[in-house]
Amino acid sequence: MIRIVRRAGLPQASTTSSGGGALHEVNSVRAIFFNEVATRDGFQIEPAFVPTDTKVALIDVLSECGYAKIEVTSFASPKAIPMLRDAEEVMGRIRRVPGVEYTVLVPNLRGAERALEARADELNLVMSTSETHNLANLRMPMAHSFAALSEVIKMVDGRTPINVSLSCGFGCPMEGKVAQEKVLDWVSHFADLGVRGVTVCDTTGMAHPAQVSRMVEALQQGFDQLQLTLHFHNTRGMGLANVLAAVQGGITRFDGSLGGLGGCPYAPGASGNISSEDAIHMLDAMGYDTGMDLQKLLAVARHMPHIVGHEVPGQVAKAGRITDLHAVPAEVDEMGRQFA
Ligand code: COA
Ligand code: ZN
Repeated sequence: MIRIVRRAGLPQASTTSSGGGALHEVNSVRAIFFNEVATRDGFQIEPAFVPTDTKVALIDVLSECGYAKIEVTSFASPKAIPMLRDAEEVMGRIRRVPGVEYTVLVPNLRGAERALEARADELNLVMSTSETHNLANLRMPMAHSFAALSEVIKMVDGRTPINVSLSCGFGCPMEGKVAQEKVLDWVSHFADLGVRGVTVCDTTGMAHPAQVSRMVEALQQGFDQLQLTLHFHNTRGMGLANVLAAVQGGITRFDGSLGGLGGCPYAPGASGNISSEDAIHMLDAMGYDTGMDLQKLLAVARHMPHIVGHEVPGQVAKAGRITDLHAVPAEVDEMGRQFA
């Protein structure tokens, strides 16, 4: 997740002109908060198991990069998500840096008990807003998921903050369009149960920026008491455009995945999340305060292909930041002198 928060006492940044929609740089008047999900959304779909030692070392270095949250792992059934079967060990071994929240995905009561036992800072409950995807991913109808998650919220009883991630909130790869009202209804049900936050997830990259703007407006109108987060996948190349639409609408929190890894194994056609470093680079360049150490983050991102054993989609780790210039070729330098 990436988080953004408006700082009290400072004027709100304007990223659009009132008339033509032109973009302007901003003067760091907002903080943007990122939740890193590579070790959960990213690793859950990798073909090869990432060794526990590697996961722990990666999370420890990410903890030093400025994230507000890290989604460490998932307390799903190890049969459903075998790549994260070492959740207890990872949670037990990471070094917890003050100021970083260590959150975990939880699909049911059994998962919540395991998460509490592991001393997670937040439980990120999950259900889909598409009946078909909920059946595929969680093996139960949405109503059963809601009943199970309501039980979790009752059992936790305020001891640990709860976020709810709503999958397929912008479309389902099997059902197609998911009505915004239906998504807002689910948000409302969970808000009534007193959760701290809700994440609307574009599980297979079906959202487009105009749709995101509409969703953001409705979310902020109806649920400004909630910590609102958006979770985009770049499956159709619209990921950063969607981030921008959300930021312009005032959203301050996002999920992102280092290298652009990610995907739900039970959503046909799923591919990677927005790359955290690409999103942070874009927002930094525009003048947003992301609180991230981008240089350190890029060094970690460059290591991701070694960790997963294949190329990753993230672009800035390959191209360098816009401020990382190349040496002038000698012949161009010489021409410059001749024409001086
Ligand atoms: N942690 C560990 N084990 C769990 C568990 C959990 N959270 N939930 C269920 N189990 C175990 C049960 O104890 C049972 O074990 P057994 O076969 O040894 O008796 C087995 O899993 C089946 O339990 P059941 O309640 O019948 O679950 P299910 O097979 O219907 O699966 C879910 C339901 C929700 C547990 C499973 O689909 C799941 O974990 N999905 C998560 C998917 C996901 O994370 N997707 C990516 C993120 S969007
Ligand atoms: Zn996802």
